Amino acid sequence: MGGMSTQAQAPQHALPGKPTSVSRTTLSHIMTGNDTNLLGTVHGGVVMKLVDDAAGAVAGRHSGGPAVTASMDEMVFLEPVRVGDLVHVKAQVNWTGRTSMEVGVRVLAERWNESTPATQVASAYLVFTAVDEEGRPRPVPPVLPETERDRRRWQEAQIRRTHRLARRRAIKELRDRRTAQGMLDE
Ligand SMILES: CC(C)(COP(=O)(O)OP(=O)(O)OC[C@H]1O[C@@H](n2cnc3c(N)ncnc32)[C@H](O)[C@@H]1OP(=O)(O)O)[C@@H](O)C(=O)NCCC(=O)NCCS
Repeated sequence: MGGMSTQAQAPQHALPGKPTSVSRTTLSHIMTGNDTNLLGTVHGGVVMKLVDDAAGAVAGRHSGGPAVTASMDEMVFLEPVRVGDLVHVKAQVNWTGRTSMEVGVRVLAERWNESTPATQVASAYLVFTAVDEEGRPRPVPPVLPETERDRRRWQEAQIRRTHRLARRRAIKELRDRRTAQGMLDE
């Protein structure tokens, strides 16, 4: 895997490319008492919903139509979020395949009434698949990374993509083998 060229794996595209900045988005939200868990800090699911919302907006903008969440991985919570925090959810397309896109999301929080710098509280990577009216996958424009950071994110997303596919394939093969051997889940 280490020697695999990212270029060699890049899919062929018929659509013209779109620069990363065209769809990059920030969603901001103030956390209130409705967003808390039993400990009094903000519920992780509230942050995940904002992450999915921001990533969905980016995927829709990039692909020019509806896109559905296919997976969310590496959702990491670094710091608790508190009531009164102003949360900024920053999302961009990191990588595009034929019909899917990886969207990278960073979540920053700052006290709504203080001028202290925002700190990063969470991050995640989501795969969205663009779909047509019947829910069938449809081609997406290739993302055109503009900066060195965009290019690094594209390369890292390609590594995650390779691992996702390898893991899915390995698990499917294991299940098929077990089924062929007559082992049934009870
Ligand atoms: C996502 C979905 C459209 C994929 O449909 P499918 O019939 O499996 O289509 P394909 O196998 O052709 O996959 C289409 C693309 O999605 C990607 N994909 C599919 N499942 C994936 C997964 N679990 N993780 C990452 N990528 C995935 C494929 O790699 C492919 O990408 P590519 O074209 O860039 O190579 C389908 O599984 C679906 O509709 N899921 C429900 C989505 C949804 O409703 N989300 C909201 C949850 S409430």
